[in-house]
Amino acid sequence: MRGIILAGGSGARLRPLTNVHSKQLLPVYDKPMVYYPLALLMQAGIREVLVISTPQHLGLYRELLGDGSRLGITLEYAVQEAPEGLAQALLIGRGFIGSGAVCLVLGDNIFYGHRLPDLLRAEAERLDGCTLFGYPVGDPERYGVAEVDGDGAIVGLVEKPSRPSSNLAVTGLYMYGNEAVDRAAELAPSARGELEITDLNLTFVRENRARLVNLGRGCAWFDTGTHDSLLEASLFVQLLEKRQGIRISCLEEVAYRMGYISREQLALAGKELSDSSGYGRYVLALADA
Ligand code: G1P
Repeated sequence: MRGIILAGGSGARLRPLTNVHSKQLLPVYDKPMVYYPLALLMQAGIREVLVISTPQHLGLYRELLGDGSRLGITLEYAVQEAPEGLAQALLIGRGFIGSGAVCLVLGDNIFYGHRLPDLLRAEAERLDGCTLFGYPVGDPERYGVAEVDGDGAIVGLVEKPSRPSSNLAVTGLYMYGNEAVDRAAELAPSARGELEITDLNLTFVRENRARLVNLGRGCAWFDTGTHDSLLEASLFVQLLEKRQGIRISCLEEVAYRMGYISREQLALAGKELSDSSGYGRYVLALADA
């Protein structure tokens, strides 16, 4: 399975923070936002990742993350010329995806949970059609909302409903079999001119081949699309990291623990980060441990 991180969009809801900067590069406490979805894919065992961003910002991602070799992974880059919908990521990534399955994650979604990596690997194994990941929220009308039967099959799916039928928000993490690429190509643009991810997912719901995994209580999920949720995500990361003396979604650590890089490569990565940064010292200490 290959991974795609979609880091496009205009970041309208975060202006003026996003007037000159890409939303998914904004800080979430001690690291750029995009580190979190990338760490998630890496923990799920996905080592080939395509980063999609705007013409204006793609170069910044390349500068930040490089070709991935420092992390023992392969990173490629592609432009989304205009914000024409989340499902367009599969079309932009068509050549990259090839004939296999794909895991799409939105660059502004932050997931945290001890059991997530195992869960994602298991879901990738059993994937048939599409698998979505739900999270119970108090304000479902802000999201895609799913209704599921007792086996986790999705029986209803609505984008930002005014009267939600459940409290299960569909998070920005999606697994698809290869057929999803052709389906994305057949989608008609919505009223706002976008290829909607919910429309793509509905093609699988209609065939009873869309599953929803409820991440539930044991996980945290943040969509960082507003000033408040961006700050809340930062505070959550700060609290957890300070309390436990660890760093979450530290790409160098994930790469090392997953066996993608050696201790020597970890030490080198630590040296490249300044030891005047707490993050850099953390990586150096890991390599010394
Ligand atoms: C998008 C999806 C929505 C999903 C959300 C998760 O919404 O359309 O279904 O619940 O991401 O972050 P957006 O944030 O683009 O409004």
